[in-house]
Amino acid sequence: EKGGYDYFMLKEIAEQPKAVADTLLGRVDAAGSLTLDEVRISTSELREMDKVVIVACGTAFHAGLIAKYAIEHWTRIPCEVELASEFRYRDPILDPRTLVIAISQSGETMDTLMALRHAREQGSKVLAICNTNGSTIPRESDAVLYTHAGPEVAVASTKAFLTQLVACYLVALYLAQVRGTKWADEIQAVVRELSRSSQDVDRVLDTMEPVRELARSLAGKRTVLFLGRHVGYPVALEGALKLKELAYMHAEGFAAGELKHGPIALIEEDLPVVVVVPSPRGRSVLHDKIVSNIQEIRARGARTIVIAEEGDEAVAPYADHLIRIPATPTLLQPLVATVPLQVFACELATARGNEVDQPRNLAKSVTVE
Ligand code: F6R
Repeated sequence: EKGGYDYFMLKEIAEQPKAVADTLLGRVDAAGSLTLDEVRISTSELREMDKVVIVACGTAFHAGLIAKYAIEHWTRIPCEVELASEFRYRDPILDPRTLVIAISQSGETMDTLMALRHAREQGSKVLAICNTNGSTIPRESDAVLYTHAGPEVAVASTKAFLTQLVACYLVALYLAQVRGTKWADEIQAVVRELSRSSQDVDRVLDTMEPVRELARSLAGKRTVLFLGRHVGYPVALEGALKLKELAYMHAEGFAAGELKHGPIALIEEDLPVVVVVPSPRGRSVLHDKIVSNIQEIRARGARTIVIAEEGDEAVAPYADHLIRIPATPTLLQPLVATVPLQVFACELATARGNEVDQPRNLAKSVTVE
């Protein structure tokens, strides 16, 4: 059942190109319009929405953080992202013009379920993004967009995360479409880019041997830090979470711009720091800033592990280890940038003798609050 792989996690990492493609399948009609037929909230209601609130936990929360960039950019609707476990306890402001998006692989996470129940009690509509047909969260929501990742068995989420991203991009584009923002005309182009991402993920998977080698060489380390900017920041958080849960190592993700406000004090000789570098095309300001962040930490002795686009030569001189990913539109970069971090965490866990599919103290679905 592991299809020749040693662990379900390796199988599920390898299935990502297909999972991404499957989640896109059948959702764009011949005219280039998105048809999300499981979305049972009327278009007139969607046009009235003046706020989006995303609730989720763990890896799904990181997908939500990335979704915020896409939703605000493509729809211009303000979007908040909140940990489901914090949400209802602070008496959040909700009304019928708030669209709540609950993201959950299992569809059974109690924190997320309680958050969506609270939102519906306040009159908000809830759209679930879920991987498990007929599970509780989609059953209790007003609408569902299923991710088609297939069953995810390993406790650490991988392919579900990538498909959650795809589903979030689709929801963002759908909102742009029904509201007629200027991005509505770009739907076909973005969907084409999303389909290409599936092939790009495949290419990334083909080049992972140096990443595995690097991971093995770091098995004796105590701490790894992760830095990113813009959508690379949630990717950094996800890289750190994967490492904590699988390798049982201390790992933290930071927004690179926050370094100088505290975390740079942690940098010491030979500390591994993974940096997710934004594309040098388009938002080049972001790129230039992260290059100086890399220089700053390297000057203080960090061992820099740099994830950068093919053709990005400006970062190369400051990278002790350079991991290449295909050039991708900025908002979609998490689809390719996350993959090396999954492989890195999985290999490090194996090198430390940990049980990859069943990390200690964790369960696949967390049905208690
Ligand atoms: C991390 C992981 C967890 C889950 C979280 C939410 O690899 O698997 O952080 O992402 O418990 O679970 P779902 O998506 O089932 O609600």
